Amino acid sequence: MDQATLKTTQLGATGLEITRVGFGAWAIGGAGWEFGWGAQDDDDSIAAIHRALQLGVNWIDTAAVYGLGHSEEVVRRALEGVQPRPYVFTKASRVDGGGGRVVSSLERDSIRREVEASLSRLGVDVIDLYQIHWPRPDEDLEEGWSTFAELKAQGLVRHIGVSNFDVAQVRRAQAIAAVETLQPPYSLVTPAAEREILPFARSEGIGVIVYAPMSSGLLTGAMTRERIASLPDDDWRKRDARFQEPALSEHLATVARLQAVAERHDTTAGAVAIAWTLQNPAVDGAIVGFRRPEQVDPLVVAANLELTPEDLAEIAAA
Ligand SMILES: NC(=O)c1ccc[n+]([C@@H]2O[C@H](COP(=O)([O-])OP(=O)(O)OC[C@H]3O[C@@H](n4cnc5c(N)ncnc54)[C@H](OP(=O)(O)O)[C@@H]3O)[C@@H](O)[C@H]2O)c1
Repeated sequence: MDQATLKTTQLGATGLEITRVGFGAWAIGGAGWEFGWGAQDDDDSIAAIHRALQLGVNWIDTAAVYGLGHSEEVVRRALEGVQPRPYVFTKASRVDGGGGRVVSSLERDSIRREVEASLSRLGVDVIDLYQIHWPRPDEDLEEGWSTFAELKAQGLVRHIGVSNFDVAQVRRAQAIAAVETLQPPYSLVTPAAEREILPFARSEGIGVIVYAPMSSGLLTGAMTRERIASLPDDDWRKRDARFQEPALSEHLATVARLQAVAERHDTTAGAVAIAWTLQNPAVDGAIVGFRRPEQVDPLVVAANLELTPEDLAEIAAA
């Protein structure tokens, strides 16, 4: 696969033409905070970014909170000297609460501090897409979104969007300034977005990039009971209910169905899981987390993978 072959689409009305798969930079934030993924080698992270760019991926999704700033720093190091640069999307509202804990703030002063810190860590003059990470605390949503509109008007960020918002929260934001993009969770394990937020995004023409399309690694085919048992204690997934019984058996049965479909397409279960999210007409792009270069090739192909109605029926047969 080369750059010319990776499918792209318009991200809502932003004017950004994005590859259907983007690079998710959460795990490369590394350890040492509440939602870390265990130890991470920065050289592996940088090599993974370079491999994704080599295959034509043209955007990276990170957040200030990933590794408490470390993910953004690694993204900057990876992009030094890279031309053309991929789009860099980041997020605000989750801040360092001390002792590795994370707290939320949508206060104007906090967001203004966050954007300056992100610009500096990323080494850019402007952020391509700036997103509210979580709508918390809910009562400060209007203050947070007004600040985002201000940052856009000032030219510090090109586009503004939100993540983890429900329809009522998006409407409250829209009353202040256009919401250009949404970032909901969406996967076979977490399909709830299908009910309201995705149809809403489609009817409003809002761009959608979905996160954790393989449910944070659960649907890759590589996440066995043995692997889960051997996850380091500082990998947040070790404490997550989706990775434990009674839910786990059901998810592993889903993986078995994905594997059967993958065999027909000569691809991987993870790529089928990602392609499944991309077949929803509201979805523009899927954010896929990578931490090592060899993980990239088997999954980036999802951008071009067309699932048949038979595939979809088989995957849904749970
Ligand atoms: N807005 C939000 O609140 C929010 C929340 C979550 C995620 N996100 C965004 O979405 C991105 C993606 O989500 P995610 O990273 O949680 O989940 P994901 O994309 O569903 O899964 C990523 C994980 O799958 C495993 N993996 C990757 N390639 C693989 C391969 N070829 N074979 C086997 N396993 C492979 C890796 O874990 P191992 O290396 O451990 O195997 C990797 O970290 C994040 O990086 C972040 O940018 C946003």
